[in-house]
Amino acid sequence: MKELRLNDGNHIPVVGFGVFLIPADGSTYRAVREALDVGYRHIDTAAAYFNEEEVGKAVRDSGIPREEIFITSKLWLQDYGYEASKKGVRASLDKLKTGWIDLYLLHQPYFDVVGAWKALEEAKKEGLIKSIGVSNMTPNLWKKYVGEFTTIPAVNQVECNPLFQQRALRELLAPADVKIEAYYPLGHGDKKLLENPVITALAQKYGKNPGQIILRFEVQDGLIVLPKSTNPARIAGNIEIFDFELTADEMSSIRNLDTGRGTHDPETPGMGEALLAKFKIHD
Ligand code: A2P
Repeated sequence: MKELRLNDGNHIPVVGFGVFLIPADGSTYRAVREALDVGYRHIDTAAAYFNEEEVGKAVRDSGIPREEIFITSKLWLQDYGYEASKKGVRASLDKLKTGWIDLYLLHQPYFDVVGAWKALEEAKKEGLIKSIGVSNMTPNLWKKYVGEFTTIPAVNQVECNPLFQQRALRELLAPADVKIEAYYPLGHGDKKLLENPVITALAQKYGKNPGQIILRFEVQDGLIVLPKSTNPARIAGNIEIFDFELTADEMSSIRNLDTGRGTHDPETPGMGEALLAKFKIHD
């Protein structure tokens, strides 16, 4: 699996297996085992996905040396603020039981983000977490919070796909070499993307499925991608994107699909409160 170097010197596999919305009823365990069996070495979970325990067990049971697997988790809003965040990191570690976490993110940019970030910086110094980053930060939210941070995040995980390419954000983050991690890299199954004629023509040309063309475009464009699937054939196929290369013209034809809009606007008023009410991870 191809890796990218983060701005803190650590390396991250460019395709990760995302487990958002996979239930913790054995399904997450099975999906992660499946993903590891077919070659994924990067798993992306979160406290608010309620499946960290199954992710950890699947990693431990896989027989693959721990240092060969890159695990991301995320701190939930309920645990923001310096003291609560230190406990939140411990809670994730206790659930995962993987010794350390490779990348830990502030899942959402609301409330005491600066206090929470300080706790992550300390956990990194203690070796509990190897790299730290943020998520869902628009250019405005990035400017608002990151100016207050002592350390620059290694990544910003945001919604990103050919219909919503995050060009302004990417320009803002490039000077500090902050990598973008794309969630919903397949447009969350959006047919307008998966059945777009530009994509389907390339799928035909390269003998790949539309999802593979989209993921190849994103990786070739410097992104880290987190496709989600519970279908074993698609799980396997979504990492088979390193045996072909899109031409410069093909890359531009996909770049032209950008609408500049996604499904989630982190700047919607009341979003922090709404998310906090929606996902309650403990009392
Ligand atoms: P499934 O779980 O049946 O594979 P995203 O990662 O952008 O959130 O998109 C996930 C959605 O895309 C899921 O509905 C998933 O369905 C579907 N999907 C995953 N991989 C592919 C692929 N290679 N081609 C088409 N659809 C895919």
